[in-house]
Amino acid sequence: MVDRGHLGTMPLGTERDDDSYLDFVEGVRIFNQAQVSSVVAQKSAEAIAEYEARTGEKVATIEKIREVLDPVPVVATRNRLSRTSQEMMWEKVIETYRKREPELLRELEIADRSGPGSVEYDPNFKHPDYFAKVEFHIQPGNYHADPLAGYIYHYGTKVFFTGRNNNDDVQRSAVMSSPLPKDGIVRRVLDQACSVGQSTTAWKERFPQAEVWGIDAGAPMVRYAHKRAVDMGLDVHFAQRLAEDCKFPDNYFDVVYAFIMYHEVPQHIMKAIIRETHRVLRPGGVYIIVDFPTRGPNGKASNPASDYFRDFDTHDNGEPYASDFVYSDFHGELRKVFSEVIENYEGAKTFLPMRVCYK
Ligand SMILES: C[S@@+](CC[C@H](N)C(=O)[O-])C[C@H]1O[C@@H](n2cnc3c(N)ncnc32)[C@H](O)[C@@H]1O
Repeated sequence: MVDRGHLGTMPLGTERDDDSYLDFVEGVRIFNQAQVSSVVAQKSAEAIAEYEARTGEKVATIEKIREVLDPVPVVATRNRLSRTSQEMMWEKVIETYRKREPELLRELEIADRSGPGSVEYDPNFKHPDYFAKVEFHIQPGNYHADPLAGYIYHYGTKVFFTGRNNNDDVQRSAVMSSPLPKDGIVRRVLDQACSVGQSTTAWKERFPQAEVWGIDAGAPMVRYAHKRAVDMGLDVHFAQRLAEDCKFPDNYFDVVYAFIMYHEVPQHIMKAIIRETHRVLRPGGVYIIVDFPTRGPNGKASNPASDYFRDFDTHDNGEPYASDFVYSDFHGELRKVFSEVIENYEGAKTFLPMRVCYK
């Protein structure tokens, strides 16, 4: 099979036609976001106003919002385009990499034994049910069950970011704009739920002398992350471990980092991860979190339609815990253990809010 080269650090599909197909899917996503969604905003506001005027009833609960908005033609079209383009994307990405699966598996095996850096994973790893019974973002096989899941997820995020992240630009700008411990000392960094390691390698680029770790629940994720780091010549350590039980000693890290992890775990695990992070962070260390904005329990968006679109991920895109996270008292939980919590760090260069916690 021909290796068609890379786009940034991501291997291209096996055949030109596959990349072309995926380019089209990316275009559908751009069209849906840019063109359809603006009409959707206007038509949903009209439908809600019409319903409230006709019935005298407020459209407040998510069930009621769904009842009113699901039948609006442009909303249904937007939902269908989102869901179907996601399904088309996974199907083609899996198909294209499957065509050269033996080569890709061999590449991972060679990388397992190569440096710089290291990878640790366990074929008998016990995945918790909250993780193993979900296909996040409707990715078939989730983050752990397909040995090519790292390759597949990486291409999936290329389509998700619609071409704006081909060189890890999103993760890089968040890492490079993250604040440091107040004494400026950074000897050890932990990247929780590192996935394919795009933030982990950015931390190593920022602090070449530091000991940098990326941990993730999925073995295919850390294997692919390690392969990527080897290709980049970066000495990073990856391990298959849970963020809530990460096995590092107390007070080990100067910086702990979590980029879009929390909305993918249930509430009791969110709380356990906060406690575990506090344990492994040294006094004066900093915990940096980039994730969805949270509204607090019973918090409602000013416009009910935005609650509806917020809930789309949970309802249709394999993100069962995302809405619970958005309506959680996340900052209250962080304040229980950290001495200082900044909810919206202004120096952040990221598409989502950055929280900064000092121990
Ligand atoms: C959206 S991705 C994170 C993206 C990544 N942090 C980055 O910088 O691009 C979510 C990741 O969280 C991992 N994950 C989910 N629950 C976890 C847990 N409890 N402990 C460790 N990793 C977890 C998944 O395997 C997946 O790779």
